[in-house]
Parts: sequence; structure tokens; C-alpha cells
Amino acid sequence: MSLIDRLVQDHAEEDVLLEKVKAIVEEGRGDGQVMELMDRFSRNLKYHIFLEEEYLFPMIAGEYIFRWNFELMNQHVALWNLVEKIESSFRRGELEEVKKSVYLLSSLLKVHNAIEERNGIYEEIGKALKERGGMELPSEMPKGWSPKFMTTPTSEE
Ligand SMILES: [Fe+2]
Ligand SMILES: [Fe+2]
Repeated sequence: MSLIDRLVQDHAEEDVLLEKVKAIVEEGRGDGQVMELMDRFSRNLKYHIFLEEEYLFPMIAGEYIFRWNFELMNQHVALWNLVEKIESSFRRGELEEVKKSVYLLSSLLKVHNAIEERNGIYEEIGKALKERGGMELPSEMPKGWSPKFMTTPTSEE
């Protein structure tokens, strides 16, 4: 499976996990299954964001990607923060909050993933990867890593 296929598969998997979480919170159940699903979701999403920001987006950083890069990097921060908010709301037993945030996360993620898949971004990454004959990627995200825009100014000025 190519790296691009794997990224697209990650997106699909994230969707499935969130749909499962939605179904459970919709029934008003706050069992450990939600935490387990969110845990898998969180690991999947964070590692995926790490690869995109540290390895993949920089390969196509240029005028073509500039506008989308900025939007996508900001969205990574929003997605990341929402996941952490859901996890802490869940730990506090605030199921209404969990529900609201899961819906928000799901909507944001759909848009985010669609931009990456349908605006030529993954396509450009695929081309760049092919040109350099593949790329060695770490199998884990370093401990304490967070999205680059989390700590740098996120305005365009
Ligand atoms: Fe992304
Ligand atoms: Fe992605």
C-alpha cells in the first residue's frame, strides 16, 4: 500500500471511529468503550498530523501549497485541541459536552480531510514521494510533540 493510500485509509478509519463514538453518546451511554475508541482515534489522528506537518507538507511547500498549508496547519491545532477537550470532558463525566464536541470534531474533520484529498495536496505529496523514490518515516510520534501552529502566531500578517 502506498503512503498516500495509507493516509486516505487513516481518514476513513477516523471517520468510522467517530461514527461509533457518536452512536454510543447518542444513546446516552458513557461507558469505557467511548474512552477506548477515543484513545484509538486520538493516537491515529495525532500521528497522522505529525507525519503531515514534519515530513509530508514540507515536501510540497511552495506557492502552490501555501494557502492550503496555512489553513490545514491551523485546522490541525483545532482538531488536536478538540480531541483533548473531548477526553477531559469524558473523564469528568460531562456527556453533553462530549456529544457536542464529537459532532463538531466530526464536521471539522470531514472538511479537513476532503481538502487534503481533493485539492491536489495528497496528489502533490504522492508525486514528490515518487520523485525521491519513497521516504523513511518514523513509526511513532515523539513524546510531547504538538502541531507547529500551536505555539507560533496563526495570523497571516
Ligand atoms: Fe491533516
Ligand atoms: Fe490527513
